[in-house]
Amino acid sequence: MSEINLMDKYPKSKRNIEERANLIKEEHRKIARKFEKDFFDGDRLYGYGGYNYHPRFWQETVKRFSEFYKLDKSASILDVGCGKGFMLHDFQEFSSTYTVAGIDVSKYAIENAMDSVKKYVQVGDAKEIPFEDNSFDLVISINTIHNLELEDCKQSVREIERVSKKHSFIVVDAWRNEEEKKRMLGWNLTALTYMHVEDWKQLFKSQDYSGDYYWFIAE
Ligand SMILES: C[S@@+](CC[C@H](N)C(=O)[O-])C[C@H]1O[C@@H](n2cnc3c(N)ncnc32)[C@H](O)[C@@H]1O
Repeated sequence: MSEINLMDKYPKSKRNIEERANLIKEEHRKIARKFEKDFFDGDRLYGYGGYNYHPRFWQETVKRFSEFYKLDKSASILDVGCGKGFMLHDFQEFSSTYTVAGIDVSKYAIENAMDSVKKYVQVGDAKEIPFEDNSFDLVISINTIHNLELEDCKQSVREIERVSKKHSFIVVDAWRNEEEKKRMLGWNLTALTYMHVEDWKQLFKSQDYSGDYYWFIAE
């Protein structure tokens, strides 16, 4: 189990955290947490403000994952919280011999998944991953399991561990100091479980998680 930044090739976005913190109210969070159209393709106050594919998002990062985990041609990859399947699409572009699968709690995201991966994605909850034990060489979950309440979040970590036969990589909302914590609290729209990086490490350890992890820090 180790902390490793495999997201270093993911493009950094310019965030106006202060502006968003001033605008976001509980009513926006309530709607965002439904993970319906408003969250993905509605007004920016409810989420992405337009969740569209762009190769610059994942192309370099899937290469990074593939190289770091030395995935062979027949590797199987599960994305927990796959949204519209953008990362899985890029995995397939990177190597057409990979087997990919994705789950997302959002019916809207799955119904609007990219055509190229539609048959590989399904509605499903991270706390009950609908696959057998040891099904995938690599299980990835980016910015997803912090959206569950603490006990469910812990269960999702155990689920990721269970369905992975080799590697896994989780990214969650976190902070390393008071300044980052303040920014995260202002930025956060949907997360229900977020904490200091050291507390996350404890949580992973307590669930016997053997995979890797990194942080989404509000910067
Ligand atoms: C911030 S988005 C990240 C999407 C994608 N992983 C990415 O990095 O672009 C969070 C995703 O988690 C999904 N999600 C939220 N709760 C979930 C749950 N309990 N199980 C599975 N997916 C969930 C949402 O529908 C959404 O697609």
